[in-house]
Amino acid sequence: MLNNQKQRRILIVDDDELIRENLRLVLEAQGWEPFDATDGYRALEILYKYPIDIMLLDVNMPGLGGLEVLKMVRQAGYRVPVILMTGYPSIDLSVEALRNGATDFLVKPFTMEQLKNTLENVMRREEKEQSEQKLTKPLVRLLKQKIREQTILFTISDRLTGCRSLSELYQEILNLALHFTSSHKGVLYLADLSRSVLLPTVWEGQEGPPPEFRLEYRDNPIVKASLENMPYLSCRDSRSFLVVPFSVRGEFLGSLVLERSKAFDQEDLFVCTLIVERASPLVENFILYESIFLNLHDSLRALVKALEAKDPYTKEHSERVTSLALELARFIGLSETEIESLRFAGHLHDIGKVGIQDHILLKPGKLTKEEYEVIKRHPLIGAEIVGHISLLKEEVLIIKHHHERWDGRGYPDLLQGEEIPFLARILAVADTYDAMTSERPYRPPLPHNVALEEIRRNAGLQFDPQVVEAFLDLWSQKQKGESFHGDYVSGVVA
Ligand SMILES: [Fe+2]
Repeated sequence: MLNNQKQRRILIVDDDELIRENLRLVLEAQGWEPFDATDGYRALEILYKYPIDIMLLDVNMPGLGGLEVLKMVRQAGYRVPVILMTGYPSIDLSVEALRNGATDFLVKPFTMEQLKNTLENVMRREEKEQSEQKLTKPLVRLLKQKIREQTILFTISDRLTGCRSLSELYQEILNLALHFTSSHKGVLYLADLSRSVLLPTVWEGQEGPPPEFRLEYRDNPIVKASLENMPYLSCRDSRSFLVVPFSVRGEFLGSLVLERSKAFDQEDLFVCTLIVERASPLVENFILYESIFLNLHDSLRALVKALEAKDPYTKEHSERVTSLALELARFIGLSETEIESLRFAGHLHDIGKVGIQDHILLKPGKLTKEEYEVIKRHPLIGAEIVGHISLLKEEVLIIKHHHERWDGRGYPDLLQGEEIPFLARILAVADTYDAMTSERPYRPPLPHNVALEEIRRNAGLQFDPQVVEAFLDLWSQKQKGESFHGDYVSGVVA
């Protein structure tokens, strides 16, 4: 049987030259290509140089014995089958040999027939093992692929569900797609059906906003892929593109577009599809939540406007205060999240006045001490009203504390200094400035410069001195007609 096979290489390791020579002759006759070594070191040299199929190893050799050579062979990482040859077999030797990775034994003296049978048995077992490995390799590969997919899926779900707003979610979709495809350039387009365009919403890897695409330009591959809701892969002039459209409940929402120099493949497409599929229900929830939230905000804002309209002296007060507070917040360089909180709280900061009786609220003359105490309840009533809306903790605190004073003599909680929420300190300055520059039944509006001087005088008393400093700088720049967006840097934010 061995004669019919491709010539295989056998390594004989024995210190006895006569035995080596005899075995070489017999094995050559049986169709093997024999190599021989007098000790373990030479055996390792041959294993290093030639792909040996099987090894015959004498147990009793001077210097390194067969078991020690076997250990060295295995420690060097060779999986070659090893048949030990010994004239003194014992149970202990067998156990030790098997533990060290021996494959079989030949007890000296052995016949040529015994040698042939042992070699055939070992090679048969080896072939069987190799064919089994061939079968299990694709399974192992499949298993590794599944583990990778599960890891990706977990990361995607974990990162997406951690998002707290729609804009954060859109940014995270793009970040994940760039990360898992090792791309550095990408855009998330959203469809604006009222204008019939694909609008770049978040992007990475380029300066300035990417171009819009009109939806009627169907020749454009991004538009075509989006409208047909079919992913698109292309590689041209060493630039590769991947377009993955995504929809919410079957309604097209937008497309993820990635670019890199190396061609995208099916795995990149799979990962990006996974990301947009996982993100889709979250996007839907946020859209729903934000529309409910905006409706609610609009309704409460309308209530405040109606309240203020009852009194000609406070008409549009909250709108003006909000607009000035936002200007100051942008000037200081606050984040979009902080600006949005301030916008919400600014519009509604006096909503608690719905709980104050009209004869006090609209009283044309000076208020009595008792009446003033009633008015002072409006921040708490406002916080109570808005506090029923979950996820608005920051905004509730701004409403509750917009009448606190830096020196601790305000209301309702007598907070002082940095105990007062920072956005409430900004709102307080804008609120007071608008109150001073608006007409009152008992006085005309104060001129702008007088109001500014009054605010300056109250820095460190009624107001945060750093907010006052920023407010005065803002007006100074406004008067100079300079651009003042986001160029103010001071310790105010810190
Ligand atoms: Fe107020």
